[in-house]
Amino acid sequence: MAYETILTETRGKVGLITLNRPQALNAINSGLTRDVLAALQAFEADTTIGCIVITGSEKAFAAGADIKEMQSRSFVQSYLDDFFAEWDAMLRVRKPIIAAVSGYALGGGCELAMACDFIIASDTAKFGQPEITLGVMPGMGGSQRLTRFVGKSKAMDMCLTGRMMDAAEAERSGLVSRVVPAGELLEEALKAADKIASFSLPAVMMNKEAVNRSYEVSLSEGLRFERRVFHSMFALEDQKEGMSAFSEKRKPSFNNR
Ligand code: CAA
Repeated sequence: MAYETILTETRGKVGLITLNRPQALNAINSGLTRDVLAALQAFEADTTIGCIVITGSEKAFAAGADIKEMQSRSFVQSYLDDFFAEWDAMLRVRKPIIAAVSGYALGGGCELAMACDFIIASDTAKFGQPEITLGVMPGMGGSQRLTRFVGKSKAMDMCLTGRMMDAAEAERSGLVSRVVPAGELLEEALKAADKIASFSLPAVMMNKEAVNRSYEVSLSEGLRFERRVFHSMFALEDQKEGMSAFSEKRKPSFNNR
C-alpha cells in the first residue's frame, strides 16, 4: 500500500514505520493518522512480523498534532468526529510496538510515543506537552499516560508549564526504557525489536497483554489475570520447546504455536 506521510519497510521479522512529513516536523495531521493506523493494521495482519518500530527523523519524532490543520476546528465538529478517538485503534494492536524517539516528541508526538509499548530515546530526544502554550491541553492521552508514567507532580509540571524534558530526565522519570547515542537509535531499536520477534509470538503477545492489564485493573485482579494467562501458556508447543531447549543446553526454535 502506498502511504503519503510515512515510509514502511520490513527488516526480517520487524515492521518499521518512519514518520515522514519533514516540512512539518512530522506533525500529526489526518493523513498521517490514517497512514500510521493502516500500517499498524497491515503489520498486525502480516504473519511474518513479530514486532513493530515507529520512528521519526533525527530532528523530530513528531512535533505534535498539526496545529495549522487544527486551528479552525469548532467544538461541535470535534465532538461529533470524536477528534483523536481513532487513535484508540492502537490499543487493539496486539503485537509489540517500540517508539524510537530522536529530537522533538511534543504534544501528540509525545502521546504517540507513549501509546507504544515502550520508548527507546536518543540522547537528543526532548519530550513535552506544550498544549497549554496554545491555549489547550493534551488530547491524545497525555494527561492520562504521562501521569501514569512519571507521576502526578512531574506530569502537572509538564502539562501546566509546557516545558520540555530531555532524554536523561525522561529516563530518570520512567518515561523511556533506555537512552542511546543519537547515531545508534534505529540500530538499537531494531535490535530490541528483532530480539522480541525471535521469541514465541503468542508468548510475546500474552506478556504485552498482561503488562497492559496492570493499567486497567486492581493489583489482585491483575495478579489473578497474570496467573490464568501463565497457566494457559502450558498449552503452547513453544513452552515445551523453550523449556526443553534450556534443559538440553541448546537454542530454542519457536514455531508460534
Ligand atoms: N503543527 C504544524 N506545523 C508544525 C508543528 C505542528 N505541531 N510543529 C512544527 N511545525 C512546522 C512549523 O510551522 C514550520 O513550518 P514552516 O517552515 O512552514 O514555517 C516547520 O514545521 C519547522 O518548524 P519550526 O520552524 O518551528 O522549527 P524550530 O526548530 O524553530 O522549532 C519546535 C521546533 C520547537 C518543535 C517548534 O516547531 C514548535 O514549537 N512546534 C509546535 C510544538 C507544539 O506546540 N506541539 C503541540 C501541538 S498540539 C497537540 O499536539 C495536541 C494534542 O494533544 C494531540
